[in-house]
Amino acid sequence: MDTEGSGQELSRRQVLSTAGLAAIAVPLATRRHAPALVRRPDQAGAPGPEQVHVQFGADAATQVAVSWATAAAVSRPRLRLGQASLGHGQQAPAEGRAYTEALTGEIVQTYHVPLTGLHPDTQYVYEVLNDGAAPVTGTFRTGPRGRSRGFRFTSFGDQAIPAAVGLGLGPWTPNAGFIVPAVERLDPLFHLFNGDLSYANVSDAPVATWASFFNNNTRSAANRPWMPAAGNHENEVGNGPQGYLSYQTRFELPDNGSDEFRDNWYAFTVGSVRVISLNNDDVCLQDGGFSGFRRDHVPTYVSNGDNPYINGYSSGQQEQWLQRELARARGSDEIDWIIVCMHQVAMSSAHFNGADLGIRQNWLPLFDRYGVDLVVAGHEHHFERSFPVRGILPGSTVLTPAPQGTDPSLMDTSTGTVHMIIGGGGHSTPTPVSDFDMPHDGVLITSVGPGSPQVQHPTITTTEPAPWSAYRDLQTPYGFASFDVVPHEPGGTTSITVTHYGADLGSPVYSPRDQFVMRKSLNVHRQGDQLAGAATTR
Ligand SMILES: [Fe+2]
Ligand SMILES: [Fe+2]
Repeated sequence: MDTEGSGQELSRRQVLSTAGLAAIAVPLATRRHAPALVRRPDQAGAPGPEQVHVQFGADAATQVAVSWATAAAVSRPRLRLGQASLGHGQQAPAEGRAYTEALTGEIVQTYHVPLTGLHPDTQYVYEVLNDGAAPVTGTFRTGPRGRSRGFRFTSFGDQAIPAAVGLGLGPWTPNAGFIVPAVERLDPLFHLFNGDLSYANVSDAPVATWASFFNNNTRSAANRPWMPAAGNHENEVGNGPQGYLSYQTRFELPDNGSDEFRDNWYAFTVGSVRVISLNNDDVCLQDGGFSGFRRDHVPTYVSNGDNPYINGYSSGQQEQWLQRELARARGSDEIDWIIVCMHQVAMSSAHFNGADLGIRQNWLPLFDRYGVDLVVAGHEHHFERSFPVRGILPGSTVLTPAPQGTDPSLMDTSTGTVHMIIGGGGHSTPTPVSDFDMPHDGVLITSVGPGSPQVQHPTITTTEPAPWSAYRDLQTPYGFASFDVVPHEPGGTTSITVTHYGADLGSPVYSPRDQFVMRKSLNVHRQGDQLAGAATTR
């Protein structure tokens, strides 16, 4: 039995009560992280749910997971689900998962309720609760089935938190708070968080940093899935073999078939879009997970042999999974768009981190072969986007991607992959204008110098031509992008309209700064009766 604290009469797969709603099966397989054995208070005044957030399952039309944390283990954590007009008619027990923060010894208690068998394109309401505490409410909408309806999603990375915690070692700005209602105002179906979430790995108070992060974002993330990719700052050395134990414990993401690396990469389908989330630290050359504070203060750093440099950690498992995923998606009549959400970038024109040759060597040949349409990434703390790219520039020794097309406002992704850097989520160090080469060079990490678990490997960079660069914003340090998906249009095309919203430091006003359209033909066999009915954007 893997359920922590539910203890009630209902089993994991049991269909719960009715109230006229569709049956909800509460699955799921046992997770690898054993729940901590801690006493559970059952009296009034128990800690209640906080940090509530939702995630899609592998099929966004029918699967959603609700997750939260409590300040201590609690009795009978559970979720009540319903629809607005019918009340909370069904109840499901939560699975508890905990981890111990290596830096401080704190036990972090999280709860998760994966829901299956939901109706497509349907609004649900829920509340999460435990004995002795008030419920916390939220809502979510399931994805549309196939090409039945358009939808909107949003994306940014590199957010951090809205106010200092602990000694204030981690990044924070008011914009890390302002961006949340700015996203929420657009009412996206879901949000792609392209890595570097809380920056807890550089904080003296990592647990409080995560709490600040989730409690800041729950205004939106409790109402629509915020689907993450793990960035270099999710590597909290000492928390699990690769430092991802906090990330893995706090999220409930679609199964990738690996118990060891579950949550590190995954995929889900929403409408006719297949979204693939990758963990680039597996292939990046840069030593991006290094934290001097954790080196100096995690008590077991030396005795455990902790090492934040994790290049190659999956021994090719992620790449093999990616190839299978891409082949399956590109071969599916149900999928028109393949979108990759990841953190570090394949191209950049800034001397900030720079792009990483490891991504070009490992991922881009697969993106080319299987026709990935769009990549959203962060890591560079600014906004920049490419023309569709495929192949490499003739004679390039550093695999510089070759642009296909010259129109920055209308792009056909059947000719190549559009890459976007959307790294202005809120970090206190946006890419300075002085980091951009004038004229317009690309910047690439080609190797690293000597290093060790105690000494960060220095990066070695080079510059290159940047004919792939379609647009960059040097004016507004903070921002996010929205994506309006139209699954079919008159004439047999499908499109995604992208809008970048930017804001100044200290300003809650996020204004449109840039817009472009990706459009391509639907395959002929997809233009028949399965496209009946107008598709509208919501
Ligand atoms: Fe970052
Ligand atoms: Fe990063």
